[in-house]
Amino acid sequence: MPTVSEAWTARARAVMPWGSSTCSKSPRFPPDEPGVIVKGKGCRVWDADGREFIDFRNALGPITLGYCFPAVNAAIRAQLRNGIVFGHPAPLECEVAEMICEAVPCAEQARFLKTGGEANAACIRIARAVTGREHVIHIGYNGWLNGLAPGARALPGRRAAAAAGVPVALSALHHAVNWNDTETMDRFFSEHTGNIAAVIVAADYPDMAQGKTFYPYLREITTRDGAVLIFDEIVTGFRIALAGAQEYFGVTPDMAVFAKGVANGMPLAVYAGKREIMAACEPGGAVISSTYGGETLSLAAAKATIGVYRTRKVVDHIWTQSMRVWTGLNTLLDARGLPVRLKGLWPCAAFVFAPGAPADLEERFFRAAYRNGVSLYGVSYVTFSHRRRDIDEALERMDRALRRL
Ligand SMILES: Cc1ncc(COP(=O)(O)O)c(C=O)c1O
Repeated sequence: MPTVSEAWTARARAVMPWGSSTCSKSPRFPPDEPGVIVKGKGCRVWDADGREFIDFRNALGPITLGYCFPAVNAAIRAQLRNGIVFGHPAPLECEVAEMICEAVPCAEQARFLKTGGEANAACIRIARAVTGREHVIHIGYNGWLNGLAPGARALPGRRAAAAAGVPVALSALHHAVNWNDTETMDRFFSEHTGNIAAVIVAADYPDMAQGKTFYPYLREITTRDGAVLIFDEIVTGFRIALAGAQEYFGVTPDMAVFAKGVANGMPLAVYAGKREIMAACEPGGAVISSTYGGETLSLAAAKATIGVYRTRKVVDHIWTQSMRVWTGLNTLLDARGLPVRLKGLWPCAAFVFAPGAPADLEERFFRAAYRNGVSLYGVSYVTFSHRRRDIDEALERMDRALRRL
């Protein structure tokens, strides 16, 4: 007898490729992994069969304060009484742009779109317009729209040899380079000197600490060549620091994108940068425009979210509780001699399986976690709603899970 969740998955697969609009949400390990989630509150989610999970997937990143966070929900409700989107700009659009410019080192101007991939594409368009150049170097996953280079991250953590559905002429202008691979970067810059429009970089989660030298290297090589340096802060923003890697590592790019975390789950993406670069999308320049950019429920949520970050120590909390849960889990894994560890900066730590680990360990590990009420992901996240007792409970559940592995 299939579970209610499994029945939903079967129905969804009949009418949707992947059974989901988001590839990474398509269930990999049913029936242990929930097929559908019907409710989230604080740091917990419930599936259609009523099973409760302490959640570290957090919508794959956007939930930074917690599900149904009262200040954000109240702001959305208040705005809903006045309308969702208008045929003119709303004051909220200006207010949130001001907040971003105040908080983010590279941001002298900011604009809004709905998804991270779309905002990265906007930055690439602007960089090409500003420089009059064509080539783009991608480091890490920059969203489905931008997976154009052969060998690029087609999805977070997955590579495609060729970019299906992308004309060869377009692919030839996009180049995928690995995190911290300065040798390949040097080679591309000497092969395409004066024709690289942009380097767009999303950090590599297990080895993010290498950003200490890699970001200054990227700043230096792009400045020397006149290329635009874009930080994809979609995961790092509102997590390792409010302004992400540029704040944490102290390197200011020319442009940056924030999306997950800006509005605690409401769909909002920010592209921001230096005034003279953003000027390339002023009237008469590159056209970047979407009906929903200034949608006010998401902007109200962003204003409330940034307000909470300003008045409460959200980033400190995320660091402290991430460190507690991931060092605690690493200790449990150590004690059982399992060849898997969490690695990276604690707010964006990633599971790394040792090269010789049994092929089925990943599946057995995630299934055991789900069976014991813990929902994990390759990069697992702690929110402001994961309190000390939730972390203790999650570790107790993981201890039980690992005992039966
Ligand atoms: C680093 C990074 N860049 C870009 C994206 C794409 O963002 P979106 O899914 O909102 O288009 C993601 C999403 O996972 C991401 O992790």
